[in-house]
Amino acid sequence: MKILVTAGPTREPIDPVRFLTNRSSGKMGYELAAAFAHAGHSVLLISGPTALDVPDGVDYMPVETAEDMHRAVSHHIGRMEVAVFAAAVADYAPKELAPEKIKKTGETMTLELVRTPDILGSARGAMGFEGTLVGFAAETQNLVENAKDKLERKGCDLVIANDVSKPGIGFDSDHNEVLLVFADHTEPLPLGSKHDLAHTLVRRITELTC
Ligand code: C5P
Repeated sequence: MKILVTAGPTREPIDPVRFLTNRSSGKMGYELAAAFAHAGHSVLLISGPTALDVPDGVDYMPVETAEDMHRAVSHHIGRMEVAVFAAAVADYAPKELAPEKIKKTGETMTLELVRTPDILGSARGAMGFEGTLVGFAAETQNLVENAKDKLERKGCDLVIANDVSKPGIGFDSDHNEVLLVFADHTEPLPLGSKHDLAHTLVRRITELTC
């Protein structure tokens, strides 16, 4: 099958030397891309900046901003059978990119931010994607409710939810403990390495698609 995976953080520039980003390492998305390729699928990994090596056998498209990622996903999703959105996309970006390095002046400064495109949220609508759609939900509270709400609002077949308030899992960790949220049931998966979890997720996502 043809699989699209988004991964990593995005970088939203403030001026030529500064940007807004988040703690995503990209590990979960890269492990998923590697596991799909290992299972014999054709994978396009669209990724924000990470320190990771591109997995063997995966087509790779680097992007920086949420806007870039949105454009890349819109361009490629039409020929995919499965799309897995593991990227931690910035929700807001600076309204303006200062052409020169911003100098320190007053004691405080205000940065005006605007919403970035909701890539997962536009897959079903604007992009017309009809394949298997999988999103992630990193939450610090009301994990199940928020994940179910995301599943419905964004038209996902599966939301992989993790509680990022728990120490040692999720962002920037090698381990993860997730809850699979389907339309009609939920299923907890045990704590494990992102590597092993990726293989389990590939099996479950493939079952959904067949
Ligand atoms: O709403 P929230 O950001 O928690 O949703 C997370 C899910 O939505 C992830 O699958 C993420 O990759 C995706 N997302 C996206 N575009 C955004 C924000 C989130 O594709 N602008």
